Amino acid sequence: MKTIDELIAEGVTGKRVFVRADLNVPLSGTTITDDGRIRAVQPTVEKLVAAGARVVVASHLGRPKGAPDPAFSLAPAAARLGELIGADVAFATDTVGESARATVAALGDGEVAVLENLRFNPGETSKDDAERGEFADRLAELADLYVGDGFGAVHRKHASVFDLPARLPHAAGDLIATEVGVLKKLTENVERPYAVVLGGSKVSDKLGVIDHLLERADRILIGGGMAYTFLKAQGHEVGSSLLQEDQIPAVLEYLKRAEDRGVEFVLPVDVVVSAQFPDLKAKAPTEHRTVPADAMPAGFMGLDNGPETNALYASKLADAATVFWNGPMGVFEHPDYAEGTRAVAQALVDSSGFSVVGGGDSAAAVRTLGFDENAFGHISTGGGASLEYLEGKTLPGLAALED
Ligand code: 3PG
Repeated sequence: MKTIDELIAEGVTGKRVFVRADLNVPLSGTTITDDGRIRAVQPTVEKLVAAGARVVVASHLGRPKGAPDPAFSLAPAAARLGELIGADVAFATDTVGESARATVAALGDGEVAVLENLRFNPGETSKDDAERGEFADRLAELADLYVGDGFGAVHRKHASVFDLPARLPHAAGDLIATEVGVLKKLTENVERPYAVVLGGSKVSDKLGVIDHLLERADRILIGGGMAYTFLKAQGHEVGSSLLQEDQIPAVLEYLKRAEDRGVEFVLPVDVVVSAQFPDLKAKAPTEHRTVPADAMPAGFMGLDNGPETNALYASKLADAATVFWNGPMGVFEHPDYAEGTRAVAQALVDSSGFSVVGGGDSAAAVRTLGFDENAFGHISTGGGASLEYLEGKTLPGLAALED
């Protein structure tokens, strides 16, 4: 992979450089609630600005349906990027139309523009190679060079991620280089004990990574909504908790494999339950209580790990030399159910091992709960991307930058 420094050394002054970023930030209306992904691409943009390039930043945001939708506009992200780099950032109100062409044509050396959400065009995410290729052709007309730096989207075979780099001289940005360097540490010559904490709502999203990590990790700690399918598989009642019944056979197989291989599989021993899912907007206090994980009352749902689980998980992480964590342990957006996630984050901060927080939700949780980002080994900008990397899959956006 060519580095951005090598590309700059070859000369980018006055050249239009397309930067595929991942500016898919959480929004509340038009307010960005976590700007981590914008800050993560800032160094690449600033390097190109300093080198006198005409920088065209592009990204997706959310999952619009292939047509313009104001709820998914990148305008707030463009404004935030301007604040961060301390310069005006032009904004094109379309992706490859009149506004994009005029905005890019008006760029001077060292200036930056952001295009509107690439997913407003159906060609971006199309499964049809020709349709994607057509969109990539039009994007290629807007630039002379390509820098891939949207790590969070490298697992997507999308036009701007996969097809466009084939059409332009390309390099990897600093964010992608850093993320790949960190993930290599989790896959090659891993320092042991290697502990993995997996949370989030769906077991089905994590099957591939569990399958792969059963061959590599020493301990796997499970939390979040997905834990209830494991508890149910072990024969416990889980009340009205999130449950993926159809995943129980797979879960049982994993528990068996873990036992055979001597991988420690750790499940919650107590959970915080409530009769209702909390209102995440009002965040008003809720009725809740802690119960043993093997005695959940009917009609109640598990919403967080309990204090005994938090202590148990902290003890399992204390001596780990390497930790990868993906997915919150509970409904951390509500203060009554944030403790499990906070406890795992704190355990990572306290551990002297190398800790990686992977993913949109867990990364946002760490920042929302007020942790200092520098206290972790690395906070990845890619949830799905880092999981697929750890599954050993070929990621289209990285493969495209290889040649
Ligand atoms: C993410 O949030 O994981 C990335 O931005 C990719 O988004 P996607 O899952 O909608 O492709």
